[in-house]
Amino acid sequence: MNLHLNDRIALVTGGGQGVGRRICHELAAEGAVVAVNDLFAERAEAVADEIVASGGRAIAVPADITDAAAVEAMFDTVASQVGPVTVLVNNAGIIPERREKGGMTPRFVDTPVEDWPKIIGLNVYGTMNCCRAALPGMIAAKSGRIINIISEAARAGEAMMAVYSGAKGAIASFGRALAREHGRDRITVNMVALGAVSHEGIKDGPLHVDATPENNELLRKMLSAYPAAKGLNRLGRPEDVAPAVAFLASDHSAFITGQTLGVSGGFVMS
Ligand SMILES: NC(=O)c1ccc[n+]([C@@H]2O[C@H](COP(=O)([O-])OP(=O)(O)OC[C@H]3O[C@@H](n4cnc5c(N)ncnc54)[C@H](O)[C@@H]3O)[C@@H](O)[C@H]2O)c1
Repeated sequence: MNLHLNDRIALVTGGGQGVGRRICHELAAEGAVVAVNDLFAERAEAVADEIVASGGRAIAVPADITDAAAVEAMFDTVASQVGPVTVLVNNAGIIPERREKGGMTPRFVDTPVEDWPKIIGLNVYGTMNCCRAALPGMIAAKSGRIINIISEAARAGEAMMAVYSGAKGAIASFGRALAREHGRDRITVNMVALGAVSHEGIKDGPLHVDATPENNELLRKMLSAYPAAKGLNRLGRPEDVAPAVAFLASDHSAFITGQTLGVSGGFVMS
């Protein structure tokens, strides 16, 4: 694509691995300066280094996005080093603990109460903290792009992922409200909804890059439960997601706001 993002300064949360890492590379390849955020400094720095080594422009801005003060400081750092953020990709998110480790997650009724704040804190408050920090500059510039990475769990409702489904649904509703508040400022806010995505950051289980229906029982079950993925015979990959985000970051999407784009092999059709 040639999306002409040369004048964009994009901040991607959780850009240190997986989907966020690929989004950072895509935006940089389209010309943007990319501020790579991650909780883990070494991850953010590695991705920024990869981009610079391939001829792109990037800086690492590690921070815990659940910490509002740290987020404000991060946006100030970006502004002073490369200029105010014009594209915000709220990518950092967390799924329930046991699913991360390749096991089954419990029903809501069996989910420990202490798991809720972690899931809601990163997905919902992390996104809100970053939007609050990004909006004043975008309002002043009368231009901006906010792209929230959610899950089809938000639209379909996913059994055994109820808190996560609710958190991602909250981001979508929040995003639509922001889209209404800031349309007059020419700031667009859109959501990209993913199905299951396999990537290098997932250490084991059905989403591990080497898992196949033949060697992984859980993946076999998942593929038969996901009709579209079964039809396409694969799960999602970061490179399926990143071009959609780059498009939403560009002028080509100027008249699209408050929308949810499913990049999930048709997991939800609407
Ligand atoms: N992988 C999937 O199957 C899948 C499916 C649907 C939706 N999603 C969504 O896509 C997004 C990316 O998923 P992924 O699989 O690449 O995630 P991931 O867990 O592999 O990577 C997320 C990154 O966020 C960072 N992070 C964690 N807490 C943070 C914090 N407090 N502050 C800053 N950074 C923090 C992590 O260090 C990590 O590098 C998430 O929002 C996720 O909910 C993923």
